[in-house]
Amino acid sequence: MSRERPIPSNGIVVLGASGMLGRAWRELLEELGINSRFLGRDECDITDAASIRRAIDGWPIVVNCAAYTDVDGAEAFEDEATRINGEAVAVLGAACIETGARLVHYSTDYVFNGQRDWAPATAPPYRTDEPRDPVNAYGRSKAVGESLLEPLIDSGKLDALIIRTSWVYAPWGKNFVLTIAKLASERDELTVVNDQYGRPTSALGLAETTLTLLENLVEPGIWHATDGGRCAWFDFATAIAEKTESGCVVKPCGSDQFPRPAKRPAFSVLDLSETEEVIGPMSPWEDRLDQVLIQAGLANKRRLRKARK
Ligand SMILES: NC(=O)c1ccc[n+]([C@@H]2O[C@H](COP(=O)([O-])OP(=O)(O)OC[C@H]3O[C@@H](n4cnc5c(N)ncnc54)[C@H](OP(=O)(O)O)[C@@H]3O)[C@@H](O)[C@H]2O)c1
Repeated sequence: MSRERPIPSNGIVVLGASGMLGRAWRELLEELGINSRFLGRDECDITDAASIRRAIDGWPIVVNCAAYTDVDGAEAFEDEATRINGEAVAVLGAACIETGARLVHYSTDYVFNGQRDWAPATAPPYRTDEPRDPVNAYGRSKAVGESLLEPLIDSGKLDALIIRTSWVYAPWGKNFVLTIAKLASERDELTVVNDQYGRPTSALGLAETTLTLLENLVEPGIWHATDGGRCAWFDFATAIAEKTESGCVVKPCGSDQFPRPAKRPAFSVLDLSETEEVIGPMSPWEDRLDQVLIQAGLANKRRLRKARK
C-alpha cells in the first residue's frame, strides 16, 4: 500500500482503544512512530459529551473504535446498544465539528438484511449506497449511528469516514479465529454454519487500510474495508482447523441447527471496489489468516507456506 501523504504531525487519537480494533491501531501507529493517544473506556466514555471533548481536543484525526459489540446481547439491551452505537456517535460527530477534526467511525455489514436472490458464491456484494435494512438489534443500533452522522457529512459540516467492515478478528480479544482454534485443539469434530456468507477481516489489516484511506485524503462518506475474497463461516472454520494442524474435522450445518438470540444476515459481502480503486486490491482473507495465526503462535510459517504450494 502506498504511504505517500503523511498525516498531520499532531496525529491521531483512538477511542475504544482497549478493544480488538483499538489495539490493532495501537500496534500500527506505534510501529510507524505516528504521534497518537489511545483511550479506553475508563479514560473516555463516548456516552459522556464532556469526556469526548477532553479526549479529542487538539487532535486533527479521531478514530472511534468504541462500540457496543455483543450481537446477541443487544437483543435484550437494545437501548444500551443504541445509546453507544447511535446517540453517542452523533455527540462525537458534533464534537468533531466543533474542533474541526476528521472523524473515522466504524460500522458493520449487519446494517444490511443479507437477502440476495443469487447464490452466495456469485451474489453481488453490497455497495456503499444500498439502503440499510438491519435484521437484528445490533445492526439497528449501528444503522442509527450511520444515519445520525450522514446528514452532518452531507451538509459539509462534518469531515468523517464511516468505514463498514465485517467478521473482524485479531491475535487478541474475543473473536471467531481464536475461539475455533481453541475448540479445534480440544475436539475431534466441530459443526459450523454453512449458510452465512461474508468477508473475514484482520483487525491489523483494517487499521492499515483505514490509515491508507486517511493518507489518500479520501472524500468524506461511507467506505467499505474488509479482506479480499468471500466465504461461509464453515469455510473459515475449516481453514483455521487446517492451518493450525489441529486434526479436527469441521462439519457444515444450517443456521436452524444453531439457534441464537440475534438473527444474522445470510449474505453480507461488502463491495470493496471504491476502496480498491484508491488503494489497490485487498489481501485475500486466507493470507491475512495466515499472518494472524502466525502472530498468535497458532501456526508455523514454513509449514503454511509449504501447504499453499
Ligand atoms: N468485531 C467484529 O466482527 C466487527 C464487525 C463489524 C464491525 N465492527 C465494528 O468495529 C468496531 C470495533 O469493534 P471491535 O471488534 O474492536 O469491538 P470490541 O473488541 O468489543 O471493542 C469495543 C470497545 O469499545 C469499548 N466501549 C464500549 N462502550 C464504550 C463507551 N461508552 N465508551 C468508550 N468505550 C466503550 C469496549 O469497552 P468494554 O470492553 O469495557 O465494554 C471495547 O473496549 C466497532 O465499531 C464494531 O461495531 C466489528
